[in-house]
Amino acid sequence: MPEMETAMGFITSAALEDTGIVVLDRRDHQIDPAEWTDLEYVGWRSSGVTRFAPLASAAGEVDCNGFWNHTPPRTDKDGVWIAAQTAKAPTLQSLALEPGANVGRCRVIELQPNTYADAIYNLHQDDNNRLNDEGTGWVVRAWLNLTDDPDSLLILRSDRFDPSTEIRLPLPAGSCIIVDTQRFWHAVWHRGTAPRYSLITSWTSGPELDAHIAANHGDQHPVSASLPEALVAEAQAELHRRIEERRQTFEAQGIVMEPVASLYN
Ligand SMILES: [Fe+2]
Repeated sequence: MPEMETAMGFITSAALEDTGIVVLDRRDHQIDPAEWTDLEYVGWRSSGVTRFAPLASAAGEVDCNGFWNHTPPRTDKDGVWIAAQTAKAPTLQSLALEPGANVGRCRVIELQPNTYADAIYNLHQDDNNRLNDEGTGWVVRAWLNLTDDPDSLLILRSDRFDPSTEIRLPLPAGSCIIVDTQRFWHAVWHRGTAPRYSLITSWTSGPELDAHIAANHGDQHPVSASLPEALVAEAQAELHRRIEERRQTFEAQGIVMEPVASLYN
């Protein structure tokens, strides 16, 4: 698997230095759910059964592709707002613009309920700093949970295969989490019965983002939810079983298995 870029040589946030995660104050938002339910969604494979409603994309189209797959290719910065979408979601757009940091991709994700083992299998790193220029700001990801999913967990691991590196953050409505998603393997275990909706924004690190994190009391050391050991062990076994199953399926087709990280963004 190719080495992922690291933040070395880029402008980063000190608030993300220690753990790569920062949890901000919960937003006490009163957003009309129509701001996410009325958007235009497109199928886009991510962690689990997902659809995305882009608010800002590479060229202002309802499109989820990485900015590097466009002509000319570029990194995940300077997203172009999609007027037909932002007209339906003015509050969501204003939340993405609030820090004043550069916004790359900005979209609402819809995730169907899944299992812990699914989430572990879905763990991936993002590649939002592909084509990013050294000396400029490192792109990080922010999640604002729109639906109230207090039993669902954002799962983060610094080592994909090591559960001892796992951090689990609950996702009640208004939870705001910023993650260096190129450093952390991540996925959501959504325990609800209805889909979960979350606003995901690519923000560029720099003084504006630092000020936003400070103003919202960013916590680099959030409490991680505990899970039964047996559940974790079962999911580990299932992870390895699924990887092997996938490898064999690909092998049967004469295809060398792609690194998981390149399948998602
Ligand atoms: Fe991701």
